[in-house]
Amino acid sequence: MKVLGIESTAHTLGIGIVDEDEIHANVKSMFEPEEGGIHPRKAAEHHYQKAMHLLNQVEQKSGIDLEEIDAVAFAQGPGIPQCLDVGAVMARALSKRYDTKLVGVNHCLAHISIGTRTTGAEDPTTLYLSGGNSQILELRSGRYRVIGETLDIALGNALDKLARKMGYPHPGGPEIEKLAEKTDDIIELTYPIKGMDFSFSGLVTECERKVNSEEDEVIANSFQEHAYSAVVEALERAMAQEESDEALLTGGVAMNSRLRDMIETMCEQRGAEAYVPPPEYCMDNGAMIAHQGLLELQAGRETVIEESGKKPKWRPDEAEVTWK
Ligand code: ATP
Ligand code: FE2
Repeated sequence: MKVLGIESTAHTLGIGIVDEDEIHANVKSMFEPEEGGIHPRKAAEHHYQKAMHLLNQVEQKSGIDLEEIDAVAFAQGPGIPQCLDVGAVMARALSKRYDTKLVGVNHCLAHISIGTRTTGAEDPTTLYLSGGNSQILELRSGRYRVIGETLDIALGNALDKLARKMGYPHPGGPEIEKLAEKTDDIIELTYPIKGMDFSFSGLVTECERKVNSEEDEVIANSFQEHAYSAVVEALERAMAQEESDEALLTGGVAMNSRLRDMIETMCEQRGAEAYVPPPEYCMDNGAMIAHQGLLELQAGRETVIEESGKKPKWRPDEAEVTWK
């Protein structure tokens, strides 16, 4: 079954085509704000403007004509309402035009599924860290339970905010990483963990206050060490509780090499395996939505047009897992 997947939950418009055997194409365009964070309307405008171009590109790269598509999957939530509308409108139109099946999937679960497809992990404890989400997820009696999560802002968002305050461009995660690599010095900050939950808002404020009195490198390194240690400690607790021997790291922040090192070390010490998908599948992308759609269609799920509206606050634990 050839499934075309559309991702449009936040700043990325991504389109991918997959079937059971292969990921045929995965193209994307990212909205890059000139300043400040993501402006919902501007991001949505970007997605509308790039839609046709990306559809042409995905056909070219995959060598698959849209006529040959069996189903269209789209990220129905969670995400920015204006952005979600773009994907939903495209998906409805395409499925009507090419007379295909339609399925709306949960964006967070798609991250996990493409993670297992591309790494070979089977039933991992997942640490999903991006600009909009920070969660620890585990499959337990038919649902992915959120067993740990941020109590305020997402880790990627925190990195972006801190970088902006220090005068560096968006996205902030890679900027903070580059700065941190230049020093081993650390200043003591609040350690932002509460059981298996974590929080980053206070840590950002604490760092922002030091911007003129400490070097950028030291602030960046200190932020990384505190924030990443906290999420890795929470992940370890979750793995211990679940007796899990697989960790999957995903989301844009998974690109960070310091974080990867910490997770690998933690897993080695526990005799567990750490998995990180290739970068293009860690960040928001269309192939993950197509793959999630494929799994759900195979399990018999479809979305009728009347139920294909956006779900901006759709938590992963609200989705029934029928495909495992
Ligand atoms: P979601 O919709 O899942 O919340 P998103 O829109 O934030 O995702 P992603 O591509 O998953 O998109 O993640 C982007 C985030 O990843 C940004 O906050 C960015 O700063 C962060 N990031 C990217 N590269 C790195 C890195 N090397 N180190 C740390 N953070 C990074
Ligand atoms: Fe994401």
